[in-house]
Amino acid sequence: MIDGAVTVRALEKVYPRGRVKAVDGVDLDVARGELFGLLGPNGAGKTTTVGICTTRVLPTGGSVVVEGIDVTVDPAAVRECIGVVTQYNTLDRACTVWENVYFHCRFFTMGRRAAKGRAEELLEQFRLTERAGSMPDELSGGMAQRLQVARAIAHRPRVLFLDEPTAGLDPQSRIALWDIVGGLRREGITVVLTTHYMEEAQRLCDRVAIIDRGRILVCDTPTALVRDLDEGRVVELSLDRLDGRLLDRLRRVDGVAAAESDGRGGVRIRTTGADGRVLAALVEVAHPCGVRDVSIGEPSLETVFIALTGRDLRE
Ligand SMILES: Nc1ncnc2c1ncn2[C@@H]1O[C@H](COP(=O)(O)OP(=O)(O)O)[C@@H](O)[C@H]1O
Ligand SMILES: [Mg+2]
Repeated sequence: MIDGAVTVRALEKVYPRGRVKAVDGVDLDVARGELFGLLGPNGAGKTTTVGICTTRVLPTGGSVVVEGIDVTVDPAAVRECIGVVTQYNTLDRACTVWENVYFHCRFFTMGRRAAKGRAEELLEQFRLTERAGSMPDELSGGMAQRLQVARAIAHRPRVLFLDEPTAGLDPQSRIALWDIVGGLRREGITVVLTTHYMEEAQRLCDRVAIIDRGRILVCDTPTALVRDLDEGRVVELSLDRLDGRLLDRLRRVDGVAAAESDGRGGVRIRTTGADGRVLAALVEVAHPCGVRDVSIGEPSLETVFIALTGRDLRE
């Protein structure tokens, strides 16, 4: 008995010419009404996983069930109950903003009058009414993305998949889109989104699965993921010069879990606790390299990611 919105089991994908497994044994359970985030760096397997869930990519192993329907058994039935916003702009450039939504509704078998009403309602909801007659190329990145979401939910899908919905948007448009996505959840739509922005996952998602190299490393609420870090902190030291042996010396300090170059001439250190003595010891060890600035970050999903992979999600 499958009760969730999306159930992924032992999912695998090897692309025909790929030697690596893009998806390597992924298990996920997305509950109805949940805003679920798949967080990972470029190449982690997010788009492939979403591609399989949305019937665009065939798995080479395992299964995905969406709203009780197996994606490989009845892909057409799955497509009727999902909405999809892909990583790339797929708006019809030959149609107006209004027509993009209207024809989508018609395609999903709505009558003319119903489709017209739905298109107008959505343009209003997504603050695009004034641009109804514009062509997609005339829209800003933020508007185009709002239109893609409006179109994706036009046939009232139960599950909406958003692949990197805010990639490339300016900060203001990103926040506007977060409001929209948060609003959808309040309407009861299950939302599965992928992102490589930790702040996005942390602020928006009920639960987050961190994916890396085709595998899920952890899956929990952002709060629980951060709490399980045992109160570690990220300490960043700006230095006059980064001496090659400094990282080793920092790693030997009591209470230090990891120390890496931050790629800008400084170091990023993850501690295992919030003990002030660790900080004093770090500054003392780094002193010969000229400590210009010290910053201490609260633990975040970024800290979780670094702790799990030893790498920075931004790199
Ligand atoms: N069509 C494809 N053919 C071959 N390899 C692919 C294809 N699409 C993605 N890949 C590879 O699969 C891995 C996962 O890619 P992807 O799912 O796009 O990750 P993400 O969305 O997290 O960046 C990467 O190594 C990528 O190069
Ligand atoms: Mg992708």
